[in-house]
Amino acid sequence: MEHLETFTELSYQIDRLSMSEALKLLSDKFPGEVVFSTSFSYEDQVITYHIFSQQLSVKVFTLDTGRLFPETYSVWSSTLERYQQPIAVYYPDAKDIESFVTQNGPNAFYESTELRQSCCQIRKVQPLKRALNGQSVWITGLRAEHSPNRSNLQVLEWDDTNQIIKFNPLLHWTTEEVKECINKYNIPYNSLHDRGFISIGCAPCTRAVREGEDFRAGRWWWEDKSKKECGLHVHR
Ligand code: ADX
Ligand code: SF4
Repeated sequence: MEHLETFTELSYQIDRLSMSEALKLLSDKFPGEVVFSTSFSYEDQVITYHIFSQQLSVKVFTLDTGRLFPETYSVWSSTLERYQQPIAVYYPDAKDIESFVTQNGPNAFYESTELRQSCCQIRKVQPLKRALNGQSVWITGLRAEHSPNRSNLQVLEWDDTNQIIKFNPLLHWTTEEVKECINKYNIPYNSLHDRGFISIGCAPCTRAVREGEDFRAGRWWWEDKSKKECGLHVHR
C-alpha cells in the first residue's frame, strides 16, 4: 500500500474503538467509498444492524448467486422491512453463466473442484470485483473461529488482491457474542441457523453441521478441506 504510515495509524485507531465507533470513523474518513458485503449470515446481520441503526454512509450490498436458499431471500426481505434502507444487489454476468451452464449443466460443482471454482468465480468473485471497484474500504463478517486460514487475518488489513482496505470487525468475536447481540437487538436472522446451519452459502453447496463437526464442515463438504474457499477471500 502506498500510504503505509496512514494505514498503520488507522489500524492503531481502529484497535481502540468499539465496532460502532470504528464504522463511523471509516465512513467519515472515506465518504462514499465504504462498502459492506452481506450474505445475511448471523455475523453480517450484526454488522448491518450497526450500519443501518446509525444511518452511516456505508453502501450495503449482497451477491445473489442465483442459487441461494429460500430462507436467505426471506431474511433479505425482512432486513429491508426492518431498516427501510437499501441493499444493493450484484448478479453474475448473464452471458458467462449462460455459457457455463450450457456447457457443464446446472450442478457441475459436484463433478470437480475446477468446475466448482469456475462456478464460484462467475457467480461470486466477478460480481464482487464490480462491487468493490472504485471503493476504499470493504467491510466483511469474517470470523477467526470459522477456519484456521481465517485466524491469521487482521481486523484491519490491506487486501492486495482487491487493492482495498478490508475491515473485519467481528474477527475476534465468539459465536456466543454474535448470538447475544442478535438477541439483544432482536435482529432478523436466517432461520437455517436454528436448523444446524452455521456457515451459509449457496443451497446446493451448504448443508447443516453435525455435533462435533467444525464450522465450515457444511460448505462444499464433498471436497478436500484445504480447498474450501470460494475465492471471495484470498490471502497471500
Ligand atoms: S465464503 O467465502 O465462504 O463464501 P463466508 O460465507 O464465510 O464466505 O462469508 C464471509 C464473508 O464474506 C461474509 O461475512 C460476507 O462479508 C462475505 N460474503 C460471503 N458470501 C457473500 C454473498 N453472497 N454476498 C455478499 N457477501 C458475501
Ligand atoms: Fe456455484 Fe456452489 Fe460456488 Fe454457489 S457455492 S457459486 S453454487 S459452486
